[in-house]
Amino acid sequence: MENLAPKPGDLEPIETASRDEISGAQLERLRWTLNHAYTNSPFYRRRFDEVGVHPDDLKTLADLSKFPFTVKQHLRETYPFGMFAVPQERVARLHASSGTTGRPTVVGYTKGDLDIWATVVARSLRASGARPGDKAHVAYGYGLFTGGLGAHYGAEKLGCTVIPMSGGMTERQVTLIQDFQPRVILVTPSYMLALLDEFRNQGIDPRTTSLAVGIFGAEPWTNAMRLEIEQAFDMHAVDIYGLSEIIGPGVANECVETKDGLHVWEDHFYPEVIDPETGAVLPDGEKGELVFTSLTKEALPMIRYRTRDLTRLLPGTARSMRRIEKITGRSDDMIILRGVNIFPTQIEEQVLKCRGLSPHFQIELSKADRLDVMTVFVEAMPGCTDAATRQDSKKELAHHIKSVIGVSTKIRVENPGSVERSLGKAKRVVDRRDQG
Ligand code: DLL
Repeated sequence: MENLAPKPGDLEPIETASRDEISGAQLERLRWTLNHAYTNSPFYRRRFDEVGVHPDDLKTLADLSKFPFTVKQHLRETYPFGMFAVPQERVARLHASSGTTGRPTVVGYTKGDLDIWATVVARSLRASGARPGDKAHVAYGYGLFTGGLGAHYGAEKLGCTVIPMSGGMTERQVTLIQDFQPRVILVTPSYMLALLDEFRNQGIDPRTTSLAVGIFGAEPWTNAMRLEIEQAFDMHAVDIYGLSEIIGPGVANECVETKDGLHVWEDHFYPEVIDPETGAVLPDGEKGELVFTSLTKEALPMIRYRTRDLTRLLPGTARSMRRIEKITGRSDDMIILRGVNIFPTQIEEQVLKCRGLSPHFQIELSKADRLDVMTVFVEAMPGCTDAATRQDSKKELAHHIKSVIGVSTKIRVENPGSVERSLGKAKRVVDRRDQG
């Protein structure tokens, strides 16, 4: 694969600034954000007053820990616009979560916010190995989800030729990749696997495509999956992270030359990692829940937003800004099976070790005799579907899960194509425990 490290002159000065310069900018911006939130959002004024803190109490970055957390529930309670800090006429765009588990959460952007968003996504694309003039195929969903439009404007800002494909119409995606010859693709890793199958169905060797860089995010995925995709397509696979409450995609991104975790664009988003039980701020290097404070956002400033994503903060490498370790899961995706904590990404790693199994899998939780049972539904690789090979794959996966994760699971090796495909974020866990 090509060496895609950007030339130092291509980077924004802040990407290679000293830690002191970064902290200095953060402190100034944090003061602005706290004042803006307190003055212009009745929600934040009430929250700060309740615990007796005032923006003037922030003297150092560490003082941020005196301020209260914000959680998703607050956005729901103030639905739709109750947390906004600018008059509606200044809101240039709205996005919203799908709201499958309650009221949707709505986020808003001023023109200035949209410009910053495009800037951090452009920076993310460049870190991933994309360059001005590249054709970029965007297969994140367009619409209220932040993935499609967020990627779109960032790619335009970098100077790419954007192909606004959105999710779905898998056959057509493959045709257009063949016809338009994009160098870059932006898509969820699970949908990239659906595209991989479709290339093979159409008899096209995926290693011969024009794709050189894939920018994958919106859901957890493992280094094992990275290898699988990189080998299948002969391309670089790079991780992009973000969440709509903070801005959308482009909060943090890996650098293609190191692929060692995601650099947080700390000049716009201030990260903390906390103990999810006590809320105490943990030192860098310790694992806990990621919390973000926006530093420049106007329409919807976010103060200490609890993401529920679990990771740790690490020092900068390819850029001076700190990294987050690849996210293994969310606290609300954690399965507790007979006392053992399990994340779907751990199952993904074990599935990918088995040569007779494809990376398409789903976990079902059910109850038998009042005990929780976990069943992993996974597809046989085409060509590995005869009964004896399936039996071997099943034993192999059960063995890996038992020896690495420490639990016994049921395994069902299914026909290729039988596990539900997602067009965006994969649904890894189906919980049927309340169905007896
Ligand atoms: O998923 C934004 C996005 C779009 C990011 C496209 C990257 C690419 P939400 O729908 O608000 O926003 O979901 C945010 O998705 O809190 C994580 O749990 C998860 N997530 C996003 N990126 C990653 C990633 C978008 N790279 C939630 N690794 C976040 C692991 C991720 N989880």
